[in-house]
Amino acid sequence: MEAEKWKEFAAERSIEFVQEGMRVGLGSGTTVQKIIVALSRKRVRAKFVPGSRVTEELAKRLGLEVVSLEECPDLDLVLDGADQVDPDFNALKGKGGALTREKILCHAAEKVIFVVDRTKLVRVLEGAVPVEVLPFGFPLVKRKLEELGGKPRLREVSGSPFITDNGNYILDTDFGHIGEPARMERDIKRIPGVVENGLFPRAPDELVVGYEGGAVEVRSRKRFVSLLRSFSLKGKGKRLPG
Ligand code: 5RP
Repeated sequence: MEAEKWKEFAAERSIEFVQEGMRVGLGSGTTVQKIIVALSRKRVRAKFVPGSRVTEELAKRLGLEVVSLEECPDLDLVLDGADQVDPDFNALKGKGGALTREKILCHAAEKVIFVVDRTKLVRVLEGAVPVEVLPFGFPLVKRKLEELGGKPRLREVSGSPFITDNGNYILDTDFGHIGEPARMERDIKRIPGVVENGLFPRAPDELVVGYEGGAVEVRSRKRFVSLLRSFSLKGKGKRLPG
């Protein structure tokens, strides 16, 4: 699939931000897996705090130095993927269910970079927001999310609830267009029993975006909008605005 190649381009570019001796958070997902592969190939000597068990296992297996957040509470950098990012750098995350640890890493870091393929750039965030919920509070949270206008659906794997690395459930809650991500993030967090949700308002300092021609760094709204425009034109992204 094309997007996999674009993720690879972005992953390769993103590891240029990792310097010797840095403390780096690594989120979760297929893009992060490509970042780990690229880091191990380049033999970058840094300390890495993983955002999920899957990330931890792969990073260890490929020989990266993995440490806990307790050992490295202040991170220089976080590299993570995202499901959608809007022009104001609000992001939607959590398809892999690792959103809580990923958000903690983002808040512990000096600099946050989301590494995405171009299909993740959107004008407005839209669709299901993953909400991590304590199993005990699940019925109340479900009702409260409905009162907020959402349509919650319990995430399942082979007919059983999906269980996060923290032992919780995920309610994928469709809100349609999300016009005010920061407000929605706060509203969801106020519900007792909610551990965290997949809205990351203005979380990344910058983006690394993979596309047909390679990868580009995006630091401003203006650049984001012009990229989005050129990606949706015919000939898609082969010639990007400077
Ligand atoms: C996991 C995440 C991922 O970063 C997000 O789902 C993107 O995944 P991928 O890199 O596989 O497209 O938030 O909780």
